[in-house]
Amino acid sequence: MLPRHIAIIMDGNGRWATQRFMPRIAGHKAGVDSVRKIVKACVEKKIEVLTLWAFGNENWKRPQQEVSFLMNLMTSMMENEIKKIHEENIQLHIIGDRSRLDKNLQQKIAQAEQLTANNSGLKLIIAFSYSGYWDITEAMRKIAVEIQENRITPTDISPELIQQKLALANFPDPDLFIRSSGEQRLSNFLLWNLAYTELYFTNVFWPDFDVAELEKALLFFASRERRFGATSEQLQAGQYA
Ligand code: FPP
Repeated sequence: MLPRHIAIIMDGNGRWATQRFMPRIAGHKAGVDSVRKIVKACVEKKIEVLTLWAFGNENWKRPQQEVSFLMNLMTSMMENEIKKIHEENIQLHIIGDRSRLDKNLQQKIAQAEQLTANNSGLKLIIAFSYSGYWDITEAMRKIAVEIQENRITPTDISPELIQQKLALANFPDPDLFIRSSGEQRLSNFLLWNLAYTELYFTNVFWPDFDVAELEKALLFFASRERRFGATSEQLQAGQYA
């Protein structure tokens, strides 16, 4: 079975470049090629949703030059790759704290989302200036405002309500999580939405992550039995189909 939603931490660009005596930003450039390949493969496999973490809230503390490079890369993707994305019938969404991005990038993101909003193919979500703490904090703030405005009461708070306030409110939770480069951490990525996700780790650095590596992750996923808290026997009896 294929996952409906794949979420990826594209890690190891810096180490890939350092191993080759190249500047870290060369690793990010090579990482973009992997992004293109993996997006194309997901379109071909008719995966419903693909979430890629391109910049974390914690990444703001990286050297100024690297932050600028990643900001320019994102801006250039919104300007130059958006036509191709649109032609591929991809619906693009950006999740994260936009208030920290410069006005020009905010505008480019809004335009790109608007252009592709009615596309019916792959839903491509780029997490940019995103962290799980930020997402949950924003959700709490929205709920607090609704209580303050007497639209709901504290007893209305439920996992479903919280889910509706998160950045992925309109998407199914990820079925498969992939992290490249050998680290086995969530690093403050999608904390709430990964509760029942199958976790796949590979030692390959992101610039070397190609379609063959994606196939390995999909094979791993196909071999898992997802019980969501039930027992194997209950699942086989079709009780939670
Ligand atoms: C993690 O590797 C990677 C990032 C923080 C950036 C990811 C960005 C891309 C793959 C480019 C795609 C860009 C867009 C806008 C879609 P790292 O730098 O932490 O590597 P290291 O752990 O080896 O230092």
